[in-house]
Amino acid sequence: MNTVWSTYIQKIPTLYLTRSLRFSDRYKEKYMTAFAIDSQKSLLEIGCGPGALTEALARWYPEMQVCGCDRDTNFIRFAREKAPNIPFFEEDATKLSFADESFEVTISNTVSEHIEPSAFYGEQYRVLKHGGVCLVLSGRRGIVHNAPCVSETSEFEKEIWSRVSAVCEEMDRKNAVCAYPMNEMEMPKAMERHGFHDISTEYLTVNLTPDHPCFSREEAFAIIESHRASALNGIGIMKDTVGNMVSADEIAEMERLTNARYDKRIALYDAGIKQWDTYMSLTMVLRGVKR
Ligand SMILES: C[S@@+](CC[C@H](N)C(=O)[O-])C[C@H]1O[C@@H](n2cnc3c(N)ncnc32)[C@H](O)[C@@H]1O
Repeated sequence: MNTVWSTYIQKIPTLYLTRSLRFSDRYKEKYMTAFAIDSQKSLLEIGCGPGALTEALARWYPEMQVCGCDRDTNFIRFAREKAPNIPFFEEDATKLSFADESFEVTISNTVSEHIEPSAFYGEQYRVLKHGGVCLVLSGRRGIVHNAPCVSETSEFEKEIWSRVSAVCEEMDRKNAVCAYPMNEMEMPKAMERHGFHDISTEYLTVNLTPDHPCFSREEAFAIIESHRASALNGIGIMKDTVGNMVSADEIAEMERLTNARYDKRIALYDAGIKQWDTYMSLTMVLRGVKR
């Protein structure tokens, strides 16, 4: 249908790696308690991206028919390859092709702020059965402390970012990225305005601190690598969009510097030199019922 998100905004590795960590089985009980959907039998994830949450839901609710949809062709192709047993559909959330009252649960993560609220809630209300549950997950301000070795930015990089920043901001505006932001008080009101009842909110923290002893070496590396992917994401997007403003050599140098910093972070981990860099996400879970 389109590939706007995966080309211009967030690439597959960025979303898949970061979300796989956030929706790991380590946090299953927390999420399942907040969701409170144990008796429901069918679920549609809206704006599922590459499908990390959809996969987690299929693992956590083996009795439920779980499926995901997104407008971005690249995400859906990746999600289907990764999890061939889960149905993934290319769909526009503002005009879903599903019949009225098709699902018992709809869920989304960090999607509500990108879609006009009447269409976002209205379509979910329509496809939900009576008694069905709408879950809206939304990333709130967490705590991020990068290790000193990855947070440094050279003058060379600063100059390139300032060269392209205005064009990048304009592109986000054009693609309606975060065009409908709402705070923690506005979100439940929006859900209520669109017909939902029994509305509640929960807040879940996920503490991704590589040096925490609860994480194995493999898990600590996954955390660091997800941040490398996010850092490289910006450079990749720059290459694909405003490549005419930056030379291939400059892009290659930026990638080299970024990789060198994350290689250093990995080396510090392996040498047992703790950094205590912390990435703590705070997720709001908004829950409402269609009576
Ligand atoms: C911030 S990403 C989140 C993706 C995924 N939920 C996750 O957490 O990894 C926002 C997603 O919403 C999707 N999206 C935006 N507008 C959409 C629309 N009108 N219909 C379907 N998907 C949409 C984008 O393609 C993208 O995958």
